Amino acid sequence: MTPFAHRHLLGIADLSANEIVQILDLSDTFLEISERAIKKVPTLRGKTVINLFLEASTRTRTSFEIAAKRLSADAVNISGSTSSTTKGETLLDTARNLQAMRPDVIVLRHTASGAPHFIAAHVDAAVINAGDGTHEHPTQALLDCATIRKHKGRVDGLTIAICGDIAHSRVARSDVLALGKLGAKVRLAAPRTMLPIGIETLGAEVYDRMEPAIEGADVVMMLRIQKERLDGAGLFPNTREYSRYFGLGLRMATHLKPDAILMHPGPINRGIELDPALADGTRSVILDQVTHGVGVRMALLYLLAGGSAEN
Ligand code: NCD
Repeated sequence: MTPFAHRHLLGIADLSANEIVQILDLSDTFLEISERAIKKVPTLRGKTVINLFLEASTRTRTSFEIAAKRLSADAVNISGSTSSTTKGETLLDTARNLQAMRPDVIVLRHTASGAPHFIAAHVDAAVINAGDGTHEHPTQALLDCATIRKHKGRVDGLTIAICGDIAHSRVARSDVLALGKLGAKVRLAAPRTMLPIGIETLGAEVYDRMEPAIEGADVVMMLRIQKERLDGAGLFPNTREYSRYFGLGLRMATHLKPDAILMHPGPINRGIELDPALADGTRSVILDQVTHGVGVRMALLYLLAGGSAEN
């Protein structure tokens, strides 16, 4: 296998299309371990992974922990409310103290964009960005690519619509980069107040209405309004109106291509951006995204912690 040329995974921007495919292929191999009766291989025995989550998370944190454990690494979890950051410790001090215990990988989620890049410059451990502010969420984009590839057989040449609060979404930013590198055509749909200035420069087509964005799309990905990042800004008149024009309800869904699949990174605000019947319906691959999250994170831990290739 080609050696992985990076010490950290800070953003999709740093990866080539070949490296993304390498991660997806490895993820498919590792996913098979999750289907065994004994879901564990000794690949990362003796390695230590610290999951430092200073912002809320269910899926990402759990799947990093499960990924580490299925590869036999020791996983240690620290969350915002139980860490000394609540006592006023700086991120740099926290990182230096963790480094003093010699971990191999530090997985960081933080409200500040750029936080993983900052600690990467100060620790010997490999740093994985598990979501930094409104900037990037590279492992989410990789699991999205893995899920699309599984359901559509390819990513290249597909049309993918990402709809919702694009301005505050690190998922959208990482997905636009990753899907673009793999040759997909990406459309972004949101009210104008939720579209960041200059987003077209990343290579996506921008729509201020949902219907034309989802018409003909092979994949439709809905995003949650990032209320915690709005800072009181009134970006839409009210939730009902938002839902009607930018949510995927049953009426809006009549514009979907017959074989379009539906995705969402979670957590879903049911009935706001996505109708519950669609979230749980036959087009939905939302739980499959979660399953692929484990495979992708196993692949990255393996590539960055330098596991043995014996198994
Ligand atoms: C996303 C995140 O945290 O950026 N969730 C996730 O990691 N699955 C999306 C969100 O919070 O809306």
